[in-house]
Amino acid sequence: MPWWRLGRRRQPVVENTSGRAVVHHIIRGRRFLANVPYVLPKDLQEVSRLDFQHYMLRYALRTNYVAPLEHPQAILDVACGTGRWAKEMAQTFPAANVIGLDITPHATDEQQAAQPSNYLFVQGNVLEGLSFADATFDYTHMRLMMAALPLDRWQFVVNEMVRVTRPGGWIELVEGDLLYGVGPAFDQLNQWGIELCKKRGIDLTIGPRVVNFLHETGLEPVYSHRVLIPTGKHGGRLAMMAETDYMAIFASVRGFLVSLGLTTEAEFDRLYQQAQREMHEGQTPWPFYVCYAQRR
Ligand SMILES: C[S@@+](CC[C@H](N)C(=O)[O-])C[C@H]1O[C@@H](n2cnc3c(N)ncnc32)[C@H](O)[C@@H]1O
Repeated sequence: MPWWRLGRRRQPVVENTSGRAVVHHIIRGRRFLANVPYVLPKDLQEVSRLDFQHYMLRYALRTNYVAPLEHPQAILDVACGTGRWAKEMAQTFPAANVIGLDITPHATDEQQAAQPSNYLFVQGNVLEGLSFADATFDYTHMRLMMAALPLDRWQFVVNEMVRVTRPGGWIELVEGDLLYGVGPAFDQLNQWGIELCKKRGIDLTIGPRVVNFLHETGLEPVYSHRVLIPTGKHGGRLAMMAETDYMAIFASVRGFLVSLGLTTEAEFDRLYQQAQREMHEGQTPWPFYVCYAQRR
C-alpha cells in the first residue's frame, strides 16, 4: 500500500470529472483525495472555505501579489484550488495568459463556466514536477501548500517553480503558520493536525521556514514579509474571518482524525467548542508569510 494511504483500507471511489480520473475516499461525509498526501478535504464545503480564505487573505494583504510585477505575459498558479486567485489575476492582467494547475479540476460547474478567456486550468501533480518547459512564466505563485507537500519534497517543488520561471520573472510563496498558545483545547486540536500530517511526511509547522527553500535555490535577494492577521472578539472583521476559517479547518478533518483513532467524536466536539471560545476570547495574531525572489 502506498505510504500516504492511512487508517483502515477503504474502497476508493473513482469519479470522472472533465474526462479525468479523480480518486477519492469518503471519510465520515467528507471527500478526500486518495492518491496524494494532501490531508484536507476536496469537496464543495472546502471550495467555500478556500474562497472565503482567499477573500480573507486578499483583505489582509490588500493585494493578490507582492512581487513587483510590471507587465507579466504568462502567470502560473501552482495548486490553484478553486482558481479564485488565478482568475482574479487574469482580470488584473488581461494581457497575460494565466494557468491554474491543480491535482483535480475545479469542483463546480459554476467555477468552470465563470472563467476569464485568458485563464486556463491544467491538471497536474506537482510532486511529479511541473509539465512546462524551462523559462515559460513571468510569475510563478504557490499559496498554502503546508498541508500538501511532504517536507522532503518542498525543495524539489520550489526548484521546479524556479525552472519554469523566465530570467527576470518572479517566484512567490505564501504560507501560514499555526496559532500557538491560544489555549489548551486549541493546542490539542493543533497537535492532532500535526500528528495527522506527520503520518504523511508533512510538517504542518513549515510556514515560517518556506523562505529557506527560496534561499536554497541560490536566488538573491529573497524578500520576505510576515503578515499578522488579528484574532479574537476585539480584532474586528478580519479577526471574525480568521476565526471562521481556522475553526472550519479543524472541523474539516474531524472525521479523518476520528477514523485514525487520534480522538473520538465526543472528545473532538467537546474540545472544538472550547477551542472556539479560547480563540474568540483571546487575541493571538495569526501569522502568514509571503516571500519572493527574482530569477536571474
Ligand atoms: C489549501 S489548498 C490551497 C489552494 C490555493 N492555492 C489557495 O490558496 O486557495 C491546497 C490545494 O493543493 C492541491 N494539491 C494538493 N496536493 C497536490 C499535488 N500533489 N499537486 C497539485 N495540487 C495539489 C489541492 O487539490 C488544493 O486545491
